[in-house]
Amino acid sequence: MSYRASIAALILLTSVAPLSNAADAESGKELYHEVEIERTIRGIEYTDANCVTCHEASFYQRSDRKVTTYAKLEAFVEGCNTNLDVGWFPEDVSDVAAYLNREYYKFEK
Ligand code: HEC
Repeated sequence: MSYRASIAALILLTSVAPLSNAADAESGKELYHEVEIERTIRGIEYTDANCVTCHEASFYQRSDRKVTTYAKLEAFVEGCNTNLDVGWFPEDVSDVAAYLNREYYKFEK
């Protein structure tokens, strides 16, 4: 392989590598706060609702929360994603779950 070709291969490898990494809590944070959905919530129509419209931080910290494992956390994020028609891809759901886990749930993975 020529020197130039091996540099190109190296660049390709390093730019593709992050895709195989674990979920990214930083981009999850952005997704979580910046997603906009249209939704009627208790009779009020929102064109710019997001996750925070229904969930304050305390919601994830209440003693009777439903999420008790990391797998359940991902399932609930996916549930709200589907029910609300948010349109996140599975990678986005993983990123948001990683963010919520870092901030609130703190499960071992
Ligand atoms: C219209 C209101 C609403 C919005 C907006 C909403 N959710 Fe939910 N979410 C709920 C309800 C209701 C539950 C409880 C479901 C249950 O108890 O079965 C829930 C539960 C959850 C839980 C589990 C909480 C726990 O620990 O018990 C997570 C995680 C979650 N939602 C994530 C999200 C994310 C991420 C978004 C943004 C896409 C979002 N939700 C937007 C209504 C909402």
